[in-house]
Amino acid sequence: MVELTDSVVVVTGAASGMGRSMALEFAGEGASVVVVDVDDDGIERVVAKIDDDGGEAIGVHGDVTDPDSVEGVVDRAVDEYGTVDVLINNAGILDDYAPVGETSLEQWNAVIGVNLDGVFMLTKAALPKLLEGDEEGVVINTASIAGKVAGGGGAAYTSSKHGVIGFTKQLSHDYGPEIRANAICPGAIETGMTEELIDAGEIEPMVAETPAGRHAQSEEVAAVALFLASDEASFVHGSAVDVDGGWLVD
Ligand SMILES: NC(=O)c1ccc[n+]([C@@H]2O[C@H](COP(=O)([O-])OP(=O)(O)OC[C@H]3O[C@@H](n4cnc5c(N)ncnc54)[C@H](O)[C@@H]3O)[C@@H](O)[C@H]2O)c1
Repeated sequence: MVELTDSVVVVTGAASGMGRSMALEFAGEGASVVVVDVDDDGIERVVAKIDDDGGEAIGVHGDVTDPDSVEGVVDRAVDEYGTVDVLINNAGILDDYAPVGETSLEQWNAVIGVNLDGVFMLTKAALPKLLEGDEEGVVINTASIAGKVAGGGGAAYTSSKHGVIGFTKQLSHDYGPEIRANAICPGAIETGMTEELIDAGEIEPMVAETPAGRHAQSEEVAAVALFLASDEASFVHGSAVDVDGGWLVD
């Protein structure tokens, strides 16, 4: 059994895709969820769904690339629920699979800004709250198979996700056991990010070669986040857990 009742969980990129599923799953377990995104309509829909289902959530407009906005997310969580127990840095953007030579500095900064700077800034802002009290603080960062191998994105995306895994390890190293930090490395998941690729038939030939032989739904990743946040994962520190249908087996 997962025991997250009374936990305060901040999820970024929670208006859509995996973040949305994580927000719904955690709320379903009794957590108070802070739904963070730049997509205000999406935030509203997720909070309304949690509300309809009898859960507890607030929506916060938060841009993880903006230091003031990031501080505002933590302030709002603390004002409403008193602390932050679990931080899920999930917001991310894809590049256009461009190799180094075709990546502009602007594109590079945009992708690194959301996928890596955002993880650093929000973690740093939430750190005092995560360290507060007797219970361990939990951080879960959404990396990717592109955090382990090349080819799952372009130069900027792959670099950002390798950075997320490195950041997660360093966070564990520096703050364990008070903070238990882990990364999740999804493979091909049906979300807003991959919709067009799936519709264009570009994903299926790749996933057909994997042990699972298919892409996944975002709930299948949210279930792993739930496990990592729970006491059942008490000895899991600094891992980068593949949720990829076996994409990386060979
Ligand atoms: N879909 C996949 O196959 C896949 C695979 C591996 C990793 N990932 C990672 O999973 C995470 C979630 O992506 P998804 O697939 O659910 O995509 P998604 O596009 O459905 O969701 C991403 C969310 O992040 C939000 N966002 C973007 N920039 C933001 C910012 N500056 N501040 C706050 N929120 C911002 C978007 O508005 C969106 O709601 C990302 O980190 C992505 O890199 C996705």
